[in-house]
Amino acid sequence: MTTPAQTLGGMGHSVKRKEDPRFLRGKGRYIDDIKLPGMIYMDIVRSPYAHANITKIDASKALALPGVLAVITGKDLDAAGLAWMPTLMSDKQMVLPVDRVVYQAQEVAAVIATERYIAADGVQLVEVEYDPLPPVVDPFKALEPDAPLVRPDREQKNNHIWHWEAGDAAQTDAAFASAEVVVKEDLYIPRIHVCSIETCGCVASFDKVEGKLTIYMTTQAPHAIRTVYSLVTGIPENKIRVISPDIGGGFGGKVPVYPGYVIASVASIQTGLPVKWIEDRSENIQADSFARDYHITAELAADKDGTMKALRVKTLADHGAFDAAANPSKFPAGLFSVVTGSYNLQAAHVEVDGVYTNKPSGGVAYRCSFRVTEAVHTIERMVDVLAQKLGVDPADLRMKNFIQPESFPYKSPTGWEYDSGNYPAALQKAMAKIGYADLRREQAEKRARGELMGIGISTFTEIVGAGPSHTFDILGIKMFDSCEIRVHPTGSAIVRIGVQTQGQGHETTFAQIVAEELGLPVENITVEHGDTDTAPYGLGTYASRSTPTAGAATAVASRKIREKAKNIAAHLLEANPDDIEWSDYKFQVKGAPGRSVTMKDIAFAAYTNHPQGMEAGLEAVDYYDPPNLTFPFGAYICVVDIDRGTGAVKIRRFVAVDDCGNIINPMIVEGQIHGGLTMGMAPALLEGISYDENGNMQQGTFMEYLLPTAMETPVWETDKTVTPSPHHPFGAKGVGESATVGAPPAVVNAVVDALAHVGVTHIDIPMTPWKVYELLEAHGLAEG
Ligand code: CDP
Repeated sequence: MTTPAQTLGGMGHSVKRKEDPRFLRGKGRYIDDIKLPGMIYMDIVRSPYAHANITKIDASKALALPGVLAVITGKDLDAAGLAWMPTLMSDKQMVLPVDRVVYQAQEVAAVIATERYIAADGVQLVEVEYDPLPPVVDPFKALEPDAPLVRPDREQKNNHIWHWEAGDAAQTDAAFASAEVVVKEDLYIPRIHVCSIETCGCVASFDKVEGKLTIYMTTQAPHAIRTVYSLVTGIPENKIRVISPDIGGGFGGKVPVYPGYVIASVASIQTGLPVKWIEDRSENIQADSFARDYHITAELAADKDGTMKALRVKTLADHGAFDAAANPSKFPAGLFSVVTGSYNLQAAHVEVDGVYTNKPSGGVAYRCSFRVTEAVHTIERMVDVLAQKLGVDPADLRMKNFIQPESFPYKSPTGWEYDSGNYPAALQKAMAKIGYADLRREQAEKRARGELMGIGISTFTEIVGAGPSHTFDILGIKMFDSCEIRVHPTGSAIVRIGVQTQGQGHETTFAQIVAEELGLPVENITVEHGDTDTAPYGLGTYASRSTPTAGAATAVASRKIREKAKNIAAHLLEANPDDIEWSDYKFQVKGAPGRSVTMKDIAFAAYTNHPQGMEAGLEAVDYYDPPNLTFPFGAYICVVDIDRGTGAVKIRRFVAVDDCGNIINPMIVEGQIHGGLTMGMAPALLEGISYDENGNMQQGTFMEYLLPTAMETPVWETDKTVTPSPHHPFGAKGVGESATVGAPPAVVNAVVDALAHVGVTHIDIPMTPWKVYELLEAHGLAEG
């Protein structure tokens, strides 16, 4: 029998995605689908050098090409005060260089033309003369006194950006001094790229009569972009409209403002015509949307019985030539200080130094809550390093050191307050599902036969849902989020939210929240977002913040509507409001279930028969400032087999038990986890970007940058535990990035586990077949 909740499509139901019919039928509306009358095109000239003075730009041949309308250079922008723009991390960044380039593929000039291909031909005809300078590529060398200076524009004449630390150094030193065992490891988490299916792009359209700039933009944060645009250009905010249509993947890479957006806007203001700019695939992979690049030294102190005591971490963060990551202002290294993870430590001290190098800006929060992937990788690897040193099972060591369920809310040594958790339950469930004890037996037998099999565990804690606004802001804009609901007379509703979907299914899940709270069917609820002229102000979608912030706002706005609706119900039922209760998705008189009205009845009355003296209508808005972040978690177990002839790592099984509190839509959550696991497995085994000593990118195409295909992707076995967040209105935590964060160390731990018997303690990612084969050779394990 279908329950009323199923009929409505409320919380906890796998409602089919409302957005899918349009995507499946090719009716999605992405940036490149937008065609405005009179639209012209932009393409970009990029630097072949990582570091060089520009001695001359000659645009005459390009300008002579029929169809080329203009060539914009840094000098043109400089005259308008727009050669530089602020970054979201309080640094500044070149829009176009006036006299010097600082990374390979940097924008040097823009060609504006009547056709896309004419613009591309024009790019070939712009003649730029460069005087190459020595680049600095290695962040350690960048800190040496005689290193080439990446940013002479700054007052500080070295490549150090900032130093940031968290935790207590003295307490940590004391805990290390009294510890019986200390393990230490250097870990490198290389630069990787987001590689969304849709590259970055925009259509900038300036209406000279209205004086209004409309930018259709692949952005995850339209409101914040509008505010920054207004502050930089002086155009009033009501004269700027940012529309973020369907987005073909964001994953953090579409939070920053890239130069192309600004140049296209300038070109439209100058010409009065709409200007389209779409990056091609090579530009996208070479110039923007880079993440990670952390060089980490971690030490973990413990007693011989396995009691973990303290963690010390020093990190060099390579940010490239501009510090353009989108981190909350107070956290230059993002939320990396959650690095103590799921474990009850006495003390921790974490230091991070940001460094400039001659590379494109890095540090985007690629499917992770501002550097949590790096933090989880560090602690999950270190726990395994310690287990190996002590000769104990990594599952037992984790069980011994977990923060216990009764210890929540738990204050971490670096200052976070975890809201809720039950780590032993998640790990027990994962171990039972995968058959851990049997796998260990199998591994011992295989090892005796010379076969290489490994089992890796990751029991991670995430931190998602920024705000609260008292601690979190980006460029001074406080981090909260919003929802506005309007119920129409016939009982349908429009819901506008401050966050912006990029494939997560918000049009479905946010409608489900309203369906649950108001008892209106999900198909009668339309969710809108991404247009700054209509959506309430929000900080955008990244870092799995939508459900914890705007999701909460949606529930609270619904409850505001329900409060008003209760008074209308009392009026309709001729009862005292105190005698009215919300039960089974309708209002009824207490003790008289037969006397009831539905929200549909009330919606009609709100416009036709509301009580005398009450305002007509049924709508509400909420700007939700969360009291804390939410802390989803999970237990992942990965089983690998290593081919001794090729070094290839095959993931034989991967069990993922996730806990994101109460779930809105189980099918969507499972989809988020499947995608996240694939995006977590990929950097562990395949993806990684490096530069040669001249700053040339080594993986500039998909021939060298290896994205996972169905061939490499195993069957993900998922399960869940449910530990609601005590402070979220319906007990949910974010989930979008959990799997990307939790998966990499599970894979690394499995590969190291397969080789632990010959003394391997760590392997840096990506663990490509060649890298693994070299290790096999070094330890006499290679075949063939
Ligand atoms: O900010 P973003 O949407 O990327 O991340 P999220 O808040 O973790 O949500 C990802 C998707 O999963 C959204 O459609 C959520 O509504 C859904 N979700 C859910 O159904 N239940 C949860 N407890 C958390 C997220």
